[in-house]
Amino acid sequence: MILPIVGYGNPVLKKKAGEIDASYPGLQQFIDDMWETMYNANGVGLAAPQVGKSIRLFMIDASPFEEEEEELKDFKKVFINAQILEETGEEWFFNEGCLSFPDLREDVSRKPKIRIRYQDEKFNTYEEEYEGIAARIIQHEYDHIEGIVFVDRITPLKRRLIKNKLTNIIKGITRPSYKMKFAQKS
Ligand code: NI
Repeated sequence: MILPIVGYGNPVLKKKAGEIDASYPGLQQFIDDMWETMYNANGVGLAAPQVGKSIRLFMIDASPFEEEEEELKDFKKVFINAQILEETGEEWFFNEGCLSFPDLREDVSRKPKIRIRYQDEKFNTYEEEYEGIAARIIQHEYDHIEGIVFVDRITPLKRRLIKNKLTNIIKGITRPSYKMKFAQKS
C-alpha cells in the first residue's frame, strides 16, 4: 500500500525517533509499504518519520547511482535502530533532494566517511563503514530519524532564498506526482 509522504512543516519531521524491537506491530507490512511508497515516488531513500511514524527505521536503494559508483547497483537495505558512531574526512558538497520537499534541491556539505551500527529486518546487528554516495544517502536518511531535515544544514542566507519554496511546501501549493500529506493544506 502506498502511504502518503509527510511534507516539510509537519512536526513529526522535527522529532527524534524512538527505537523499536521485533515485537513492533505489523513491522514487515510496514516495511513493504515503505518500499512501495519510495519506489512510487522515485526516491532512493525513505525514513519512517516521512510517512508519519516516529521510529528509527529507514531504507535505501541506491541503484539509480550505479553510473556514478558501480557498487551501488546492489545497495538495497533496511536500517533499523541505526546509530552513526563516527563521521570522518573533509566535508564535501553534494546536491540533495528529499521526498518531503518536492521540487527542491540544495547542495549540502557533509563528511565523506561514516561508521554505523544498525539492525536488519531480522534484528541482527551490524557495524559497517560507508563512504561516498552510499554514506551520503545514509547520512540524509539518518538525519530524518534524528529529527533533522536537509534544509537545516544549509546556510541561513540560502534558506532565506528558498523561503517561498518552503512556504509552498508547507501549504501544499507544490504538487508532486505522488501522494503527500501537507502541514497546512486548507
Ligand atoms: Ni529526506
